[in-house]
Amino acid sequence: MSVETPALVPQPQLLRREAGVFVLDSGTRINMSGGSPAAAAPCADVLRAATGLPLPLVQDELPGNCLHMKLAPDMDSEGYQLRVTPEMVQLLAGDEAGLFCGTQTLRQFLPAEGMPAFPCLSIEDGPRFRWRGLHLDVGRHLYPPDFLRKTLDLMALHKLNRFHWHLTEDQGWRLEIKGWPQLTEVGAWRAASPLPADRHTLDGRRYGSFYSQAEARALVNYALERHITIVPEIEMPGHAQAALASYPHLGCLGEGYDARCHWGISDEVFCAGNDAVFDFLESVLLEVMAIFPGEFIHIGGDECPKTRWQACPKCQVRIQREGLRDEHELQSWFIRRVERFLNGHGRRLIGWDEILEGGLAPGATVMSWRGSAGGIAAASAGHDVVMSPNTHCYFDYYQREDRESEPPAIGGYVPLERVYDFDPVAGIDPARQSHVLGGQGNVWTEYMPTSDQVEYMTWPRAAALAETLWTAAPMLDYGDFRLRLRGHLPRLAGQGVNYCDPFRC
Ligand code: ACM
Ligand code: ZN
Repeated sequence: MSVETPALVPQPQLLRREAGVFVLDSGTRINMSGGSPAAAAPCADVLRAATGLPLPLVQDELPGNCLHMKLAPDMDSEGYQLRVTPEMVQLLAGDEAGLFCGTQTLRQFLPAEGMPAFPCLSIEDGPRFRWRGLHLDVGRHLYPPDFLRKTLDLMALHKLNRFHWHLTEDQGWRLEIKGWPQLTEVGAWRAASPLPADRHTLDGRRYGSFYSQAEARALVNYALERHITIVPEIEMPGHAQAALASYPHLGCLGEGYDARCHWGISDEVFCAGNDAVFDFLESVLLEVMAIFPGEFIHIGGDECPKTRWQACPKCQVRIQREGLRDEHELQSWFIRRVERFLNGHGRRLIGWDEILEGGLAPGATVMSWRGSAGGIAAASAGHDVVMSPNTHCYFDYYQREDRESEPPAIGGYVPLERVYDFDPVAGIDPARQSHVLGGQGNVWTEYMPTSDQVEYMTWPRAAALAETLWTAAPMLDYGDFRLRLRGHLPRLAGQGVNYCDPFRC
């Protein structure tokens, strides 16, 4: 049996290789101490699925042929220590998330075929950042729940822990809202889509669908079992045309809307002067909060043209009554009002960096996408930020130089090496770096009609991202990552992932 250390992605903070292996067989058991046996159940599931062995969970600390899992409350969240000897495996962690992360490391040690075994070693590990995110836009195209579950499994394999689910768009509203049924009866359907090779020509085919609340809840639970939090995004005030098609009174014009067929930015946004808009948004957000238990609710906030607000009597009255200087301050007023509502329900607001314009809501967290400047400004002002700059984190951009031989994409160029070069705290004063919660890769899907195409654009760039968010900066080494990737890609292949092969010339 090979005694080489298998390639790990992301690389642990400290790894000492020792001689020998621990072989798993039908007699191997898992023992949990320092916490309820249920804490080890998801870990046991992962290892059973990977080995096909029964791996029963046992209460007693029996000597020999056992994986000992133990919670040690003095360790950091998500951190773990692993020791493998020929006789036993010991996994110590500060919490269940740490046990799960350690289990993912064990899973990566298992050979693709042959006898299941772990190399003898000791590891001390824990994440550099606590927000290690992957975003998926299901507004432009949507994908079946089994694909979303596969994506969550792949995130878990790479220790990614935030799934940002972009649920509403001009081109489609994708989440069932019981109080507002037209959102999915009308707003989930568009009359046509642009042709991938020619964005100005429409295909004439009706497109759409949505996720029921039951499906969304099931996905939330599936994610939680993998220590992944789903961050739902409900876009406002812009990217709202599908909502306006469903309920036209919510727009400044009051009529004449369809779910948008073309890509790009729409002038049709929620009317900021109409109180009915806030009644609508608040009741939508109540349903959203009932489905998604996480701390953060993403409210979008990006790309909101002010054309309609400038010409709308209601919006102009709002500007006057509230003593606002202009439409930018009206957007800021809008976001502050929604923030108060979310805070009143114990949640935190996060939005794209445009929410800085006209003044940032007091407790808002900023997701910086137009480069890093917005995130740097917000962190300097004492706000929490998540970095997802389009310079490094936009997985809808081309990843190979030769565009002609690539499937059509939105533009841009973010090759694997650029992703690996991502540093979420670059340019931020050391005293403010603690405001950087982490980073995230974004998958906008105008040019991704199929889940195969999503995978092609996402992997292995998301693996590179995962390492930049987990592993300490001084240890990051792109050459070494590429070497490990040679061992890692077969794991993705084993999961049936349609990844883009960086070794293809
Ligand atoms: C964005 O890419 N419009 C956030
Ligand atoms: Zn208006």
